[in-house]
Amino acid sequence: MHTYLDCDTGIDDALAIAYLLAHPDVTLAGIGTVNGNTTAPQAAANTLGLLALAGRDDIPVAVGSGEHPYPASVHGGNGVGGVRLPAGKDPDSRTAVELLVELARRHPGELHVLATGPCGNLAAALRTEPRLPEMVASVTVMGGAVRVPGNRAPHAEANIIHDPAAAATVLSAPWPVTLVPLDVTMRHRWTVADSETLRAGGSPLRVALADMLPAYFDGYQDRLGAREIPLHDPLAAAVMVGEAVPGEAPLLSIGVEADGRTVEKGPGNVRTVLSLTAPAGPALLSRIRTL
Ligand code: RIB
Ligand code: CA
Repeated sequence: MHTYLDCDTGIDDALAIAYLLAHPDVTLAGIGTVNGNTTAPQAAANTLGLLALAGRDDIPVAVGSGEHPYPASVHGGNGVGGVRLPAGKDPDSRTAVELLVELARRHPGELHVLATGPCGNLAAALRTEPRLPEMVASVTVMGGAVRVPGNRAPHAEANIIHDPAAAATVLSAPWPVTLVPLDVTMRHRWTVADSETLRAGGSPLRVALADMLPAYFDGYQDRLGAREIPLHDPLAAAVMVGEAVPGEAPLLSIGVEADGRTVEKGPGNVRTVLSLTAPAGPALLSRIRTL
């Protein structure tokens, strides 16, 4: 699966990158970054540092949309819990939009797009190349809170509220889009024991990922009443790949309101994953532990 990832690397984005690198069926053709958990340039630096640890500096990383500065979040000041990653190679000379459109043209009908940050780059790519919807194989978006409370506001999820107009554009475009909202991602988590399993005897990449997690545990402890972390972005990656199998996943029309709410409007073309057929945490951990 030729894959383009658009992300705001971030701690769970880092887990999604690791999952994609570990999955034998995935060819990670390119990564674009967007303001979200941190700035787009910082997200690119974080991504390039992870790729350096993985020995994968063959993968282009392009800096994307830098609008909408974002307050520091549960991901810490540098986006990855304060963990110092190696200086990877330089970002690609193309923008994230240029990289996405070029990959879609290079792999007609075969490129799978995964967005684990706000939707600014995908919306801009749709404006740049209006034929994009029929050029890609699939689009998977981590975001939204359809029948559950939000996490960045009472009724809004972080990726969506950051850029509601872009999310509305992406979720209404005529492409095969799957939404992976908090409805499902909040229910699949890792514990501290899982983070120690990730670290044990691990590669420098796995140790770096494990070092990021305490900040994420801290960020969710009050909300969850436990030291657990929801697996938002790696779960969306596993849905895209097909390893996490949706249970309830109605085709809905999803409206995005100016305050970032995602509201179901009846039947539509957005496959909205509300549950899985099995727990995702163990499968994600065993896949990432192969790195
Ligand atoms: O609401 C969760 C989403 O917002 C995840 O993608 C996380 O990385 C943050 O970007
Ligand atoms: Ca993210």
